[in-house]
Amino acid sequence: MLLSGGPGTGKSIFSWQYIYNGAKNYGEPGIYVATEERPEDIRRNMLDFGMDIKALEEEKMIAIIDAATPKSGVPSKEEYVEPEPFKIEQLMYRVYSISKIINAKRLALDSLPALGLKLSEEAFLDGLHKLNALLLEIDCTTILTTKKIIQDIESKYSMAEYIVQGSVVMDMQEKNNEFIRSIAVMKMRGTEHSLKRYPLEITSKGIVIKPGVEIY
Ligand SMILES: Nc1ncnc2c1ncn2[C@@H]1O[C@H](COP(=O)(O)OP(=O)(O)OP(=O)(O)O)[C@@H](O)[C@H]1O
Ligand SMILES: [Mg+2]
Repeated sequence: MLLSGGPGTGKSIFSWQYIYNGAKNYGEPGIYVATEERPEDIRRNMLDFGMDIKALEEEKMIAIIDAATPKSGVPSKEEYVEPEPFKIEQLMYRVYSISKIINAKRLALDSLPALGLKLSEEAFLDGLHKLNALLLEIDCTTILTTKKIIQDIESKYSMAEYIVQGSVVMDMQEKNNEFIRSIAVMKMRGTEHSLKRYPLEITSKGIVIKPGVEIY
Protein backbone atom coordinates (compact mmCIF):
# COMPACT_ATOMS: atom_id res chain seq x y z
CA MET A 1 0.00 0.00 0.00
CA LEU A 2 1.39 3.34 -1.01
CA LEU A 3 0.78 6.23 1.37
CA SER A 4 1.54 9.54 -0.30
CA GLY A 5 1.28 13.13 0.87
CA GLY A 6 3.10 16.41 1.36
CA PRO A 7 5.26 17.22 4.39
CA GLY A 8 3.49 17.00 7.75
CA THR A 9 0.34 15.38 6.39
CA GLY A 10 0.66 12.50 8.89
CA LYS A 11 2.28 9.70 6.87
CA SER A 12 4.76 8.65 9.55
CA ILE A 13 2.19 8.74 12.36
CA PHE A 14 -0.23 6.70 10.20
CA SER A 15 2.51 4.15 9.45
CA TRP A 16 3.39 3.86 13.12
CA GLN A 17 -0.23 3.36 14.15
CA TYR A 18 -0.43 0.57 11.61
CA ILE A 19 2.68 -1.16 12.99
CA TYR A 20 1.92 -0.45 16.65
CA ASN A 21 -1.75 -1.45 16.63
CA GLY A 22 -0.93 -4.59 14.67
CA ALA A 23 1.60 -5.65 17.32
CA LYS A 24 -0.38 -4.48 20.33
CA ASN A 25 -3.96 -5.36 19.43
CA TYR A 26 -3.85 -7.95 16.65
CA GLY A 27 -0.84 -10.10 17.59
CA GLU A 28 0.82 -9.26 14.26
CA PRO A 29 4.55 -8.51 14.56
CA GLY A 30 5.82 -5.61 12.48
CA ILE A 31 9.01 -4.16 11.01
CA TYR A 32 9.57 -0.44 10.56
CA VAL A 33 12.30 0.70 8.18
CA ALA A 34 13.26 4.23 9.24
CA THR A 35 15.11 6.13 6.54
CA GLU A 36 14.37 9.67 7.71
CA GLU A 37 14.21 9.84 11.48
CA ARG A 38 16.43 8.32 14.13
CA PRO A 39 14.75 5.46 16.00
CA GLU A 40 15.34 7.20 19.36
CA ASP A 41 13.46 10.30 18.12
CA ILE A 42 10.66 8.12 16.75
CA ARG A 43 10.26 6.29 20.09
CA ARG A 44 10.06 9.59 21.95
CA ASN A 45 7.64 11.24 19.49
CA MET A 46 5.29 8.26 19.36
CA LEU A 47 5.09 8.14 23.17
CA ASP A 48 3.09 11.40 22.87
CA PHE A 49 0.38 9.33 21.20
CA GLY A 50 0.52 6.62 23.87
CA MET A 51 2.57 4.25 21.70
CA ASP A 52 5.26 2.56 23.77
CA ILE A 53 7.35 1.15 20.94
CA LYS A 54 10.28 0.12 23.18
CA ALA A 55 8.10 -2.27 25.19
CA LEU A 56 6.97 -4.05 22.02
CA GLU A 57 10.54 -4.17 20.68
CA GLU A 58 11.52 -5.98 23.86
CA GLU A 59 8.73 -8.50 23.26
CA LYS A 60 10.03 -9.01 19.67
CA MET A 61 6.72 -7.77 18.34
CA ILE A 62 8.31 -4.73 16.65
CA ALA A 63 11.72 -4.36 15.00
CA ILE A 64 13.06 -1.03 13.77
CA ILE A 65 15.69 -1.03 11.03
CA ASP A 66 17.79 2.11 11.28
CA ALA A 67 18.57 3.27 7.74
CA ALA A 68 18.63 6.91 8.84
CA THR A 69 21.56 7.37 11.21
CA PRO A 70 24.43 5.91 9.17
CA LYS A 71 23.95 8.36 6.29
CA SER A 72 24.64 11.23 8.68
CA GLY A 73 28.02 9.68 9.49
CA VAL A 74 27.17 9.17 13.16
CA PRO A 75 27.44 5.68 14.65
CA SER A 76 24.06 4.22 15.52
CA LYS A 77 23.16 2.64 18.87
CA GLU A 78 20.50 0.46 17.27
CA GLU A 79 20.34 -3.32 16.97
CA TYR A 80 19.54 -3.38 13.24
CA VAL A 81 21.52 -0.81 11.27
CA GLU A 82 21.99 -0.39 7.53
CA PRO A 83 25.66 0.30 6.82
CA GLU A 84 27.03 2.73 4.24
CA PRO A 85 27.48 2.56 1.30
CA PHE A 86 23.81 1.69 1.14
CA LYS A 87 22.70 -1.28 -0.96
CA ILE A 88 19.05 -2.09 -1.52
CA GLU A 89 19.83 -5.83 -1.68
CA GLN A 90 21.35 -5.65 1.79
CA LEU A 91 18.29 -3.89 3.21
CA MET A 92 16.04 -6.46 1.57
CA TYR A 93 18.05 -9.31 3.00
CA ARG A 94 17.76 -7.74 6.45
CA VAL A 95 14.00 -7.27 6.07
CA TYR A 96 13.73 -10.89 4.96
CA SER A 97 15.79 -12.30 7.83
CA ILE A 98 14.08 -10.18 10.52
CA SER A 99 10.67 -11.08 9.10
CA LYS A 100 11.52 -14.74 9.66
CA ILE A 101 12.85 -14.09 13.19
CA ILE A 102 9.81 -12.18 14.47
CA ASN A 103 7.30 -13.74 12.03
CA ALA A 104 6.40 -10.30 10.70
CA LYS A 105 2.96 -9.73 9.25
CA ARG A 106 3.28 -5.97 8.82
CA LEU A 107 5.96 -3.75 7.40
CA ALA A 108 6.33 -0.01 6.98
CA LEU A 109 9.02 1.63 4.88
CA ASP A 110 9.21 5.34 5.64
CA SER A 111 10.07 6.74 3.07
CA LEU A 112 10.70 5.76 -0.54
CA PRO A 113 12.18 9.15 -1.55
CA ALA A 114 14.68 9.02 1.32
CA LEU A 115 15.69 5.57 0.10
CA GLY A 116 15.83 6.89 -3.46
CA LEU A 117 18.28 9.63 -2.42
CA LYS A 118 20.81 6.93 -1.73
CA LEU A 119 20.37 5.30 -5.14
CA SER A 120 20.54 6.15 -8.83
CA GLU A 121 17.20 6.24 -10.66
CA GLU A 122 17.97 2.93 -12.33
CA ALA A 123 18.98 1.25 -9.07
CA PHE A 124 15.90 2.69 -7.37
CA LEU A 125 13.42 1.38 -9.95
CA ASP A 126 15.19 -1.96 -10.08
CA GLY A 127 15.11 -2.03 -6.25
CA LEU A 128 11.39 -1.23 -6.25
CA HIS A 129 10.61 -4.26 -8.40
CA LYS A 130 12.83 -6.51 -6.29
CA LEU A 131 11.25 -5.14 -3.12
CA ASN A 132 7.78 -5.85 -4.51
CA ALA A 133 8.76 -9.46 -5.26
CA LEU A 134 10.24 -9.89 -1.77
CA LEU A 135 7.16 -8.45 -0.08
CA LEU A 136 4.87 -10.82 -1.95
CA GLU A 137 7.18 -13.68 -0.95
CA ILE A 138 7.27 -12.92 2.79
CA ASP A 139 3.53 -12.34 2.98
CA CYS A 140 3.69 -9.05 4.86
CA THR A 141 1.18 -6.29 4.30
CA THR A 142 3.33 -3.23 3.69
CA ILE A 143 2.93 0.52 3.82
CA LEU A 144 5.38 2.47 1.67
CA THR A 145 5.33 6.23 2.26
CA THR A 146 6.16 8.70 -0.46
CA LYS A 147 5.91 12.38 -1.21
CA LYS A 148 2.86 14.02 -2.74
CA ILE A 149 2.20 12.55 -6.17
CA ILE A 150 1.16 15.12 -8.73
CA GLN A 151 -1.02 13.38 -11.29
CA ASP A 152 0.21 13.52 -14.90
CA ILE A 153 3.78 14.25 -13.85
CA GLU A 154 5.82 11.08 -13.94
CA SER A 155 8.74 10.78 -11.58
CA LYS A 156 10.71 7.85 -10.30
CA TYR A 157 8.54 7.93 -7.17
CA SER A 158 5.20 8.04 -9.00
CA MET A 159 6.14 4.74 -10.68
CA ALA A 160 5.42 3.07 -7.35
CA GLU A 161 1.72 3.90 -7.79
CA TYR A 162 1.49 1.42 -10.65
CA ILE A 163 3.27 -1.40 -8.83
CA VAL A 164 1.40 -1.36 -5.52
CA GLN A 165 -1.93 -3.04 -4.76
CA GLY A 166 -3.39 0.10 -3.25
CA SER A 167 -2.76 3.81 -2.95
CA VAL A 168 -3.91 6.17 -0.18
CA VAL A 169 -3.42 9.92 -0.36
CA MET A 170 -3.07 12.26 2.62
CA ASP A 171 -3.42 15.97 2.04
CA MET A 172 -3.85 19.42 3.59
CA GLN A 173 -6.17 22.00 2.03
CA GLU A 174 -6.71 25.59 3.03
CA LYS A 175 -10.22 26.66 3.95
CA ASN A 176 -11.04 29.96 5.73
CA ASN A 177 -7.41 30.61 6.69
CA GLU A 178 -7.01 27.14 8.14
CA PHE A 179 -5.50 23.94 6.82
CA ILE A 180 -7.70 20.88 6.96
CA ARG A 181 -6.14 17.42 6.84
CA SER A 182 -7.71 14.78 4.66
CA ILE A 183 -7.33 11.22 3.45
CA ALA A 184 -8.65 9.37 0.39
CA VAL A 185 -8.27 5.97 -1.23
CA MET A 186 -7.13 6.37 -4.86
CA LYS A 187 -6.66 2.73 -5.74
CA MET A 188 -7.35 -0.64 -4.12
CA ARG A 189 -6.99 -3.63 -6.43
CA GLY A 190 -9.75 -6.23 -6.18
CA THR A 191 -12.19 -4.18 -4.11
CA GLU A 192 -14.79 -1.49 -4.45
CA HIS A 193 -14.05 1.57 -2.35
CA SER A 194 -15.07 5.15 -1.72
CA LEU A 195 -13.31 7.84 -3.76
CA LYS A 196 -14.28 10.58 -1.34
CA ARG A 197 -11.85 12.68 0.63
CA TYR A 198 -12.43 12.40 4.39
CA PRO A 199 -11.26 14.81 7.09
CA LEU A 200 -8.56 13.61 9.41
CA GLU A 201 -7.27 14.97 12.68
CA ILE A 202 -4.07 14.30 14.58
CA THR A 203 -5.07 14.14 18.24
CA SER A 204 -3.42 12.88 21.44
CA LYS A 205 -4.63 9.42 20.37
CA GLY A 206 -2.97 9.78 16.95
CA ILE A 207 -4.81 9.89 13.66
CA VAL A 208 -8.60 10.04 13.82
CA ILE A 209 -10.68 9.81 10.64
CA LYS A 210 -14.29 10.84 10.51
CA PRO A 211 -15.80 8.58 7.85
CA GLY A 212 -19.22 10.21 7.85
CA VAL A 213 -18.01 13.67 6.89
CA GLU A 214 -16.90 14.61 3.38
CA ILE A 215 -14.58 17.36 2.18
CA TYR A 216 -14.99 19.19 -1.12
N1 LIG B 1 1.74 15.25 19.75
C1 LIG B 1 1.10 15.72 18.66
N2 LIG B 1 -0.21 16.07 18.73
C2 LIG B 1 -0.87 16.54 17.66
N3 LIG B 1 -0.31 16.69 16.44
C3 LIG B 1 0.97 16.36 16.31
C4 LIG B 1 1.75 15.85 17.40
N4 LIG B 1 3.00 15.59 16.96
C5 LIG B 1 3.01 15.93 15.66
N5 LIG B 1 1.80 16.39 15.26
C6 LIG B 1 1.44 16.83 13.91
O1 LIG B 1 1.85 15.81 13.01
C7 LIG B 1 2.66 16.36 11.99
C8 LIG B 1 3.74 15.39 11.60
O2 LIG B 1 3.14 14.18 11.17
P1 LIG B 1 4.05 13.12 10.41
O3 LIG B 1 5.43 13.12 10.95
O4 LIG B 1 3.31 11.85 10.38
O5 LIG B 1 4.06 13.78 8.94
P2 LIG B 1 4.72 13.21 7.63
O6 LIG B 1 3.65 13.20 6.59
O7 LIG B 1 5.42 11.94 7.91
O8 LIG B 1 5.76 14.37 7.27
P3 LIG B 1 7.16 14.27 6.50
O9 LIG B 1 6.84 14.12 5.04
O10 LIG B 1 7.80 15.58 6.79
O11 LIG B 1 7.91 13.11 7.06
C9 LIG B 1 3.27 17.59 12.58
O12 LIG B 1 3.60 18.54 11.56
C10 LIG B 1 2.17 18.09 13.50
O13 LIG B 1 1.25 18.91 12.77
MG1 LIG C 1 7.41 11.35 7.85
